Amino acid sequence: MNEKEYYNLIKPYEDAMQMILSRLDTLNHTLYESSATHLVPIHNIQSRIKSKKSIEDKLIKKEKKPSLTNAKNFLMDIAGARVICYFVNDIYNLVEILKSQTDLIVMKERDYIAGPKPNGYRSLHLIVEIPIFLANEKKWVKVEVQFRTIAMNFWASLEHKLRYKKELSQERLAEIDSELLECAKLCATLDQKMQNIKESKLAQEL
Ligand code: GTP
Ligand code: MG
Repeated sequence: MNEKEYYNLIKPYEDAMQMILSRLDTLNHTLYESSATHLVPIHNIQSRIKSKKSIEDKLIKKEKKPSLTNAKNFLMDIAGARVICYFVNDIYNLVEILKSQTDLIVMKERDYIAGPKPNGYRSLHLIVEIPIFLANEKKWVKVEVQFRTIAMNFWASLEHKLRYKKELSQERLAEIDSELLECAKLCATLDQKMQNIKESKLAQEL
C-alpha cells in the first residue's frame, strides 16, 4: 500500500466518521433538552483514523497480505470513535437510539459491560455501517464505536499503559493482572454507586 492508496482508502472513513460524530452530537444535545434532568449523556468523544502502519501491522497479525482490499474486507476499525459517557445507563440509552435509526446499521455489538473480559475490561463496542453519498453511488462504510463511562476509560487507559510489562517474573505478572482485575471491579462498583446517587437524587426531585 503506497501513500496515495492509503489516502484513497481512508477518505470514505473520514467522511463516515464526521457523520457519526455529528449524529452523536445531535443526540447529546437533544437528550439534554428532552430530559427533565438536563444532564448530557456524553462527557467527550475521541476519534481516530488508523494509520497506514497500524493498518499494515494488523493485517500482518491476522496473516493477511497488507493490501487495500484486505484492509477494506478484514478491518472493522479503520475509523474508530470512543464515546465517554457519564453513567452506565447513558451508554445503553445511546445505543438503543442508534439501533433505532434506520439509516445506520449496527452490524456487530459486543457488550463487555454485561460480560467483562477476563482481565476486567469493560466497554460496549459497536460496528456500525453508515451510508456515504458519492457523486454516483452510495457507499456503506464501517465505523467502530466504543462506549465507556469515565471510570471504564480510566481503567482501560491505565491498563493499556501497564500492559507492556517486561522483564518481570511470572509470579509478579500474575500479581499485576490480579491487581488490575481488582481495580476493574472497583471501577464497576463506582459506576454503580454513582448511578445510584443520580437515581435517588432524581427520585427526590420529582
Ligand atoms: P482487535 O483486533 O483489537 O480489534 O480485537 P477484536 O476485533 O477482537 O475486538 P475487541 O472487541 O476485543 O477489541 C477492540 C478494541 O477494544 C481494542 O482495539 C481496544 O481499543 C479495546 N480493548 C479490547 N480489549 C481491551 C483490553 O483488555 N484493554 C484495553 N485497554 N482495551 C481493550
Ligand atoms: Mg481494534
